[in-house]
Amino acid sequence: MRFLYQTLALAAAARAASVSLESLFGPYLSPGTEIAELNDTDFDDVVSPRWSEWRPPSWTGAIKPATEKDLQEIVRIAVANNVSFMATNGGHGTSLIYGTVNGLDINLENFNSVDIDLESNTVTVGAGAKLGDITIPLYEAGKAIPRGNSPCVGVIGATIGGGIGYETGLFGLGVDALTSVRLVTATGALVTANTTHNADLLWAIRGAGANFGIITAATFTMSPQPNNGNAVIGSFVYNSTASLGVFEYLAILDDVLPPELGVQLSVSYNRTTNETLLTVDIKHFAGWDTFVDHFESALALNPISANVTNVTLVQLYDGLDGPCQTGAYISGGTIGLGRTDPATLQEVFDDMTAFYRQYPGYIGQTLFQRYANNNTLKTPAHTAVYPWRDTKMFWLHENIYTDPALEKPTNELLVKLRKKLHATSGFPQDQPHIYVNYAFGDEGAEAWWGEENLPRLSFLKRRWDPKGVFGRGTPIPRF
Ligand SMILES: Cc1cc2nc3c(=O)[nH]c(=O)nc-3n(C[C@H](O)[C@H](O)[C@H](O)COP(=O)(O)OP(=O)(O)OC[C@H]3O[C@@H](n4cnc5c(N)ncnc54)[C@H](O)[C@@H]3O)c2cc1C
Ligand SMILES: *[C@@H]1O[C@H](CO)[C@@H](O)[C@H](O)[C@H]1NC(C)=O
Ligand SMILES: *[C@@H]1O[C@H](CO)[C@@H](O)[C@H](O)[C@H]1NC(C)=O
Ligand SMILES: *[C@@H]1O[C@H](CO)[C@@H](O)[C@H](O)[C@H]1NC(C)=O
Ligand SMILES: *[C@@H]1O[C@H](CO)[C@@H](O)[C@H](O)[C@H]1NC(C)=O
Ligand SMILES: *[C@@H]1O[C@H](CO)[C@@H](O)[C@H](O)[C@H]1NC(C)=O
Ligand SMILES: *[C@@H]1O[C@H](CO)[C@@H](O)[C@H](O)[C@H]1NC(C)=O
Ligand SMILES: *[C@@H]1O[C@H](CO)[C@@H](O)[C@H](O)[C@H]1NC(C)=O
Ligand SMILES: *[C@@H]1O[C@H](CO)[C@@H](O)[C@H](O)[C@H]1NC(C)=O
Ligand SMILES: *[C@@H]1O[C@H](CO)[C@@H](O)[C@H](O)[C@H]1NC(C)=O
Repeated sequence: MRFLYQTLALAAAARAASVSLESLFGPYLSPGTEIAELNDTDFDDVVSPRWSEWRPPSWTGAIKPATEKDLQEIVRIAVANNVSFMATNGGHGTSLIYGTVNGLDINLENFNSVDIDLESNTVTVGAGAKLGDITIPLYEAGKAIPRGNSPCVGVIGATIGGGIGYETGLFGLGVDALTSVRLVTATGALVTANTTHNADLLWAIRGAGANFGIITAATFTMSPQPNNGNAVIGSFVYNSTASLGVFEYLAILDDVLPPELGVQLSVSYNRTTNETLLTVDIKHFAGWDTFVDHFESALALNPISANVTNVTLVQLYDGLDGPCQTGAYISGGTIGLGRTDPATLQEVFDDMTAFYRQYPGYIGQTLFQRYANNNTLKTPAHTAVYPWRDTKMFWLHENIYTDPALEKPTNELLVKLRKKLHATSGFPQDQPHIYVNYAFGDEGAEAWWGEENLPRLSFLKRRWDPKGVFGRGTPIPRF
């Protein structure tokens, strides 16, 4: 029996390799679906965009389904013929593991919908929605959901690993507001997972969501928009004389950071002045009156420049368009921190300075994202696989370069800084807290989802995706 199965599967694989994508899939799909072989002139229009050229997946072709039914057929045919694939939207997924992926790109762009239902107080987004697409509809409805920052990142992609952003202090993680998904599973079936139907699957999708199917729609509970949709944003730039003072001030806020204040620190280098700079971006989702204290504290730390603006939330998110670029090599990695250790942060600043000086082609940056984590909108821990609730600050390192010779030293820099930050993170050394969506790719499932979650997670993986056709970028291991 087993022999027969293998023979059939091998025959199917051989058939799939020799026939065109058009003849394999075309007859079963609606006319609006676009199919491109790697060598077709329209391949670049059919494949999803990619943020980073560092170790990208090797596509064997691309397909852009027009309807949910097409997507079901594509998965059914691909699985039956052993054609490996990866569904993509924003194209921001990047890690050592993504670089080993070889298969057909399924571009979800056509499922770009955002539907607000005031009656049920929910917003439902389609698989093609980017974070930039939800800003105006939510603003106009006077609503908010916990969301990521960069407009070109996929809404569902960011959410299903956790979902963090400047409003996390107020509303929690994306998974906290995610109450229902529709997904195409490995058999091509369309399934709902919500709090009463396949609730165990919803648990797994709240943190390991790329592993169980292609989610066609995700529904979130909305909150009232903070401060009637107005905010105050500030950007303060500090030089090396002032950086330690900034880190010390950040440590003072460890237990008292207000929920309405999202903070990002970034270390970068100016190649004209040869100075390493620490930029502190603050997004204050409240009025000017409560902002003034923060403003004065930031000024007292001696910035070399400061800029403060009253904005609407639409302006706030429009201003975060930097990371929509494509074409550079960008590798990223992370570690979660439970406390601010000023001396370690200063060491990171100094290590970056040495690296910038040694490698003139390097334009990377290292970020610390600090959001309050004491809000009351969290979904109970046992309803989400996302494990690292005690993370206060997310370190996100981004190596950016164009000379491939920089790959080795930049990877070594990332690993060195990660180890250093982990040592003073306040977390047990055998329990690195890795936000899976920022992973470098060498950390493993225990660091992404927590040791105690793995048995249940792999049980669900065996049940819903026994052949492991989904989640190739962040795979749940077999046990
Ligand atoms: C510049 C930048 C900024 C970022 N900012 C934030 C941020 O503010 N907050 C945050 O939480 N994260 C952020 N991230 C991380 C981001 O959440 C992840 O990279 C995420 O995986 C990107 O999703 P995507 O759709 O853009 O990428 P893709 O590469 O298209 O997809 C990533 C993974 O998600 C899977 N996937 C995508 N859509 C679906 C779907 N509908 N159903 C099932 N699986 C799906 C893909 O198969 C793949 O495994 C950022 C990343 C970058 C590079
Ligand atoms: C399926 O394809 C993979 C490569 O994509 C190959 O390694 C594997 O042997 C194939 N399996 C079968 C049963 O044909
Ligand atoms: C593209 O590749 C396919 C499959 O390998 C081949 O059949 C086809 O002739 C090629 N087309 C062009 C335009 O080269
Ligand atoms: C969950 O989905 C099922 C199937 O679609 C539906 O019958 C049920 O009402 C949903 N539950 C909730 C809480 O919405
Ligand atoms: C940093 O800027 C201050 C002025 O704000 C200046 O006095 C100091 O010399 C600068 N430090 C360096 C290292 O340039
Ligand atoms: C969270 O902490 C902040 C700062 O200490 C405090 O103002 C706020 O009330 C706390 N929120 C909750 C829900 O405990
Ligand atoms: C670097 O510093 C110079 C001189 O102050 C300034 O003109 C330039 O805009 C800076 N470059 C960047 C990328 O910030
Ligand atoms: C910055 O460094 C470069 C390369 O070492 C050097 O050529 C340049 O003169 C320096 N500029 C300043 C302002 O020090
Ligand atoms: C200050 O910030 C606003 C809004 O982000 C921007 O438009 C403006 O150019 C900035 N001004 C300076 C001097 O950097
Ligand atoms: C922001 O608006 C408040 C009034 O709400 C005003 O007092 C303050 O000066 C404004 N700040 C800036 C930088 O424009």
